[in-house]
Amino acid sequence: MRITVSVNGQSYTRDVEPRLLLVHFLRDELDLTGTHWGCDTSNCGVCTVRLDGVPVKSCTVLAVMADGHEVTTVEGLERDGELDAVQKGFVECHGLQCGFCTPGMLLTARALLDRHPDPDESQIREAISGQLCRCTGYENIVRSIRWAATSDVAESATEAK
Ligand code: FES
Ligand code: FES
Repeated sequence: MRITVSVNGQSYTRDVEPRLLLVHFLRDELDLTGTHWGCDTSNCGVCTVRLDGVPVKSCTVLAVMADGHEVTTVEGLERDGELDAVQKGFVECHGLQCGFCTPGMLLTARALLDRHPDPDESQIREAISGQLCRCTGYENIVRSIRWAATSDVAESATEAK
C-alpha cells in the first residue's frame, strides 16, 4: 500500500506492506532510530511517538494507520537547534542513565505538559505509568519533568511581556 505520513513536519511517501508496524516504518524506512523498539507487546513504552499529538506505542500501530496523519518522534522535539524543555530537564536533573527509555519518556512528558502545563508529582507519575525504566528508579525522571514544566511557565511569562 502507498502511504504518505508527515513525520516531524516532513512528508514521506512509501510503499509498505499492510502488516508493517509504525515503529519499523520509522526506524527501517525513514532511519529515525531515536524511536526505540523493546518488548513489541505494548508493555514497555520505549516505542512511544505522538500521532496527531497523542502519545501512542508505535509497536501497536500499523504504518498504514498513520497514512495522512502527523507523527512526532524524538528527533522532532528540538527546534532550530534548541532542545525542548523536556530534553533540557532530563539533562539538568539527570533523568536518564542508559537512555533506552528516554525517547518515549520525553514524548510522553511533552504531551503531558501540552495538556497540563503545571502537573504535580502524581499527575506526572500517572502520565509515565506506561513507560518502563530499568535504571533510574523514576525519581529523577519526575524531577526532570517538573523542571521542564517550570521552564515552560517561565518562558511563557517572558513571551507575554
Ligand atoms: S516496544 Fe512498544 S511498548 Fe515496548
Ligand atoms: S534510563 Fe535506562 S531504562 Fe531508563
